[in-house]
Amino acid sequence: MKTYLITGGAGFIGSNLVLLARKKGIRVINLDLLTYAGNLMNLESVINNPEHIFIKGDIGDRELVKEILNRYKPDGIINLAAESHVDRSIHDPDAFIKTNIVGTFHLIDEAYSYWLNLPEKKKKDFRFLHVSTDEVYGSLEPEDPPFNEHSRYAPNSPYSASKAGSDHLVRAYNKTYGMPTIITNCSNNYGPRQFPEKLIPLMILNAVEGKPLPIYGDGMNIRDWIYVEDHCEALLLVMEKGKPGEVYNIGGRCEKTNLEIVKTICAILDKLDPDPSRVPHESLITFVKDRPGHDKRYAIDCTKIEKELGWKPSQDLETGLKKTIEWYLLNKEWVEKTRSGEYREWIRKHYGMEG
Ligand code: NAD
Ligand code: TYD
Repeated sequence: MKTYLITGGAGFIGSNLVLLARKKGIRVINLDLLTYAGNLMNLESVINNPEHIFIKGDIGDRELVKEILNRYKPDGIINLAAESHVDRSIHDPDAFIKTNIVGTFHLIDEAYSYWLNLPEKKKKDFRFLHVSTDEVYGSLEPEDPPFNEHSRYAPNSPYSASKAGSDHLVRAYNKTYGMPTIITNCSNNYGPRQFPEKLIPLMILNAVEGKPLPIYGDGMNIRDWIYVEDHCEALLLVMEKGKPGEVYNIGGRCEKTNLEIVKTICAILDKLDPDPSRVPHESLITFVKDRPGHDKRYAIDCTKIEKELGWKPSQDLETGLKKTIEWYLLNKEWVEKTRSGEYREWIRKHYGMEG
């Protein structure tokens, strides 16, 4: 049985990855600081499983990381721990620098010492996979081709700049020290267990409560959406078959404007939640002040991972969104508990409305 150290495994993508890894028989050591975005309810089905070991802690805590590595001797590390919300990075970038850059540095530096002392076979097969974002490439014009692995880095928000910084460090550990690192840059994820500060869960939950659906600017910004499990499948495939030192772009080949996304959610909800006081849900759309430095368009060319590793997304937007909406409608307790005091405070501060 393989053992992976997964960091950030109580967050949105991390928890979906932990569940998938367990399904595939991988033993998981899960290191997560449980910030506002980390939620042990995401891990309910594996929390008492002896092959899933949860450790509350910081990727920047060298002593803790060293102890975990020496104790559990993982065959690989998948680093998802991060501050991840662009809007929060605009209000308060400190935590982004601390975790995304300094934290990743401490983690990889400890991982390097661990890797150096591994027996030959285990050393050869070891991988350090750093999970990053397409946002490091900046913004595309409408006529530009999608980002590929050679696109220039041009981050525009404190979030994407901090992810870019961590990508460069991870690359440097491969180029300088020969460490078997891999970086993946993925487009916007959606699916179960996403914290409701991000576009899709925020819109779903506001719509079913008859609250305004706040769209920034004119709603014409484009994102390339991928269902979270498709991303997680890609990550496990990269751990198995990816080449050290390489970058793989992951995307859903699904470019949509924010307005199209919100209208699609509303149309699905008109069927699933036909309460006449809310139908049509589209009438709740409200255009609000734009995000500063708002990137116009992201799009990913994922030919490399498709051709070299044989990966393909399994969900299209309709099926993925329907699954996601059904999950949020079914998991009322998760929603209630996730929208804690801190969440309500964020909604008040950022949107000037009640959360
Ligand atoms: P998330 O905010 O839902 O989860 C992040 C997790 O990291 C949380 O559980 C949090 O408690 C944990 N964490 C934060 N700081 C930590 C620290 N110092 N030490 C240990 N744990 C810490 O984020 P997400 O959307 O699941 O994203 C996961 C990763 O994937 C991030 O690195 C993000 O940059 C990247 N990514 C996200 C998307 C997306 O659309 N969500 C797309 C591409 C890449
Ligand atoms: P978000 O989910 O924050 O992801 P990212 O900024 O990392 O792409 O936002 C997705 C898009 O939705 C982005 O263009 C900003 C927009 N957006 C809104 O229009 N309203 C909102 O309330 C939020 C949270 C996002």
